[in-house]
Amino acid sequence: DKVLVLHGPNLNLLGSRQPEIYGYETLADVNHALYEKATLNGWEIKALQSNHEGELIDAIQAARLDGTTAIIINPAAYTHTSVAILDALNAFEGKVYEVHISNVHKRESFRHHSYVSLRADGVIAGLGTQGYQASLDALIKAAGT
Ligand code: DQA
Repeated sequence: DKVLVLHGPNLNLLGSRQPEIYGYETLADVNHALYEKATLNGWEIKALQSNHEGELIDAIQAARLDGTTAIIINPAAYTHTSVAILDALNAFEGKVYEVHISNVHKRESFRHHSYVSLRADGVIAGLGTQGYQASLDALIKAAGT
């Protein structure tokens, strides 16, 4: 199977951005751990971070055509604003897992609503960067490989 991991705006700053909320692990650390787990299980993995909504949408559209079977996405602030990312995910037929490092429900009320959750097959919030690992574990288990 082939999984696409998408990280939204400001997640390139992971490790130095509000570490009391998002922790000290860098995005490279997160991607590396995912890569290890995926390859160990014979899965192909591609990770992309972008601060640009359109670039994330282009990646989701490309995933419809290149054999990607699942998307793990932390849309970051676009979670709460982007109908366009929701629409792109609705056009993708594989599994979609939504990850938030922080527990968005414990934070400001504008973080309580997620457009992406209208499409997501599963949502993880508040487990820190472990949420990415947990979602990949769940995907691998669900696929029975
Ligand atoms: C986030 C939560 C969002 O509300 C925020 O805008 C982010 C990161 C998280 O991973 O906890 O940038 O998606």
